Amino acid sequence: MTQSTRVAAVVSAAAVSVFLTGAAAADGLDFAMGEAIFERLWVQAPSSTQAADGLGPLYNARSCAACHPGGGGGRPPDGTVPEDRGIGFVLRLGDDPVYGRQLQTLGTSGLAPEGQVDVTWRDEKVAFPDGSYALLRRPAYAVRALAYGPLGVAPDAVSARVAPPVRGLGLLERVPDAAILAAADPDDRDGDGVSGRPNRVAGYDGAPALGRFGWKAAHPTVESQNGEAFSLDVGMSSPHHREAWGDCTAAQEACRGAPHGDQPQFEGLEIPSSLMTVLTAYVEGLPPAGGLEPPADRDGDALFDRAGCAACHRPVLVTGDDPAAPHLSNRTIFPYTDLLLHDLGDDLGDGVAAGEATGREWRTAPLWGMGRSAAEDGRLALLHDGRARSVAEAILWHGGEAAAARRRFMEMPRAERERLVRFVLSL
Ligand code: HEC
Ligand code: HEC
Repeated sequence: MTQSTRVAAVVSAAAVSVFLTGAAAADGLDFAMGEAIFERLWVQAPSSTQAADGLGPLYNARSCAACHPGGGGGRPPDGTVPEDRGIGFVLRLGDDPVYGRQLQTLGTSGLAPEGQVDVTWRDEKVAFPDGSYALLRRPAYAVRALAYGPLGVAPDAVSARVAPPVRGLGLLERVPDAAILAAADPDDRDGDGVSGRPNRVAGYDGAPALGRFGWKAAHPTVESQNGEAFSLDVGMSSPHHREAWGDCTAAQEACRGAPHGDQPQFEGLEIPSSLMTVLTAYVEGLPPAGGLEPPADRDGDALFDRAGCAACHRPVLVTGDDPAAPHLSNRTIFPYTDLLLHDLGDDLGDGVAAGEATGREWRTAPLWGMGRSAAEDGRLALLHDGRARSVAEAILWHGGEAAAARRRFMEMPRAERERLVRFVLSL
């Protein structure tokens, strides 16, 4: 199956055709090219196909699609089979003097991968007031086979992440800053226990920009997120991450000295700006797997609201005007996010800050397409590290600003809880 038929298969045909009338009709060729770049398996340099070399030298996967199959997300290793590394599962390191910002688990020939991550899961019972209970699994991460000496960062300054789905992002990108900032309430003036603040990060030009993408809203644009993916995940240089060695630090001399794929005809890079532009237009144009229409289940919607979920998972946003992308402009969308950061408590916290986001803060995850966001193998793996296997588990991990919403969920009669979960899966 090609990427676009895969995406089409998971999104209602009607929604896709409406969505793409503006885009693909004019830019069908670009869309196909963008898809090809997203799916391309990069190879190590030097190779006879110069157009596809430059992988690594240290990397986590050979293609975008390896971690975001069909534009979807990943899942963590299940911990029972040693060779199961999950899908799109990575370990961020804060900023390690030797290992850099992420542990690369693969290396080109002759170069040792940085190490491997083992996950063990511990079952935890959560009892509902009505006597029923749910089973959560709490992850513990261990790094082994470190090839470049011990880690320099503290063991709790690491953060496991799964790849989120990459659909509908061009729409989220075009929601005006002002609309996002209007919902921020950093000092909780309305006293509802939910604050919500924007992440401020450095844009390409160095000026402060509003972060929107990634689990901690660390990236202001889809392009900046894509550039970082090439660098951290695939080990390739592009206009804003010009190092051919990706995430290798000065301490990793063999990596920095290994052959690379930078080409004079590619602006001295492995991924020139022309390729980046086409890839980004493609990712921006992937339609969301839901949320282009208002939800049909009004009762479910009311429950969602009553539980306080909508305080963060904002149902409606409206995109601004972008003459260069009419199909993404002036649209009312139902993504169920405010794109703001919230403190969700210790259980979900990690030791890695991003921009102004602390270790305990996460961007409200969009819920649109939730029912279809299972990993390629059909399993649901929710939250930033994929620990939640169901919507109910995801809710039960909510703490901090969301503690009251979690409590309201727990106090609902079972039928209402099920109703709420069904509603989320219908988005
Ligand atoms: C090794 C796995 C891996 C590879 C390869 C990978 N990604 Fe990702 N991707 C991730 C993870 C993990 C995140 C979440 C990062 C975070 O927030 O810490 C992510 C996040 C993203 C996001 C942000 C989504 C959102 O909802 O905000 C985009 C866009 C994205 N990736 C695009 C790409 C592109 C384009 C490529 C290829 C150049 C790529 N990714 C390659 C794992 C991967
Ligand atoms: C205080 C803000 C807040 C409230 C209230 C809240 N959430 Fe969340 N929700 C978040 C954040 C932030 C995340 C991402 C957390 C992470 O990845 O660790 C999230 C993640 C989720 C996820 C997982 C999404 C994914 O793609 O992994 C689901 C499902 C979810 N919330 C449902 C709910 C429901 C249902 C309610 C109401 C009972 C609720 N949330 C209340 C902020 C909130």
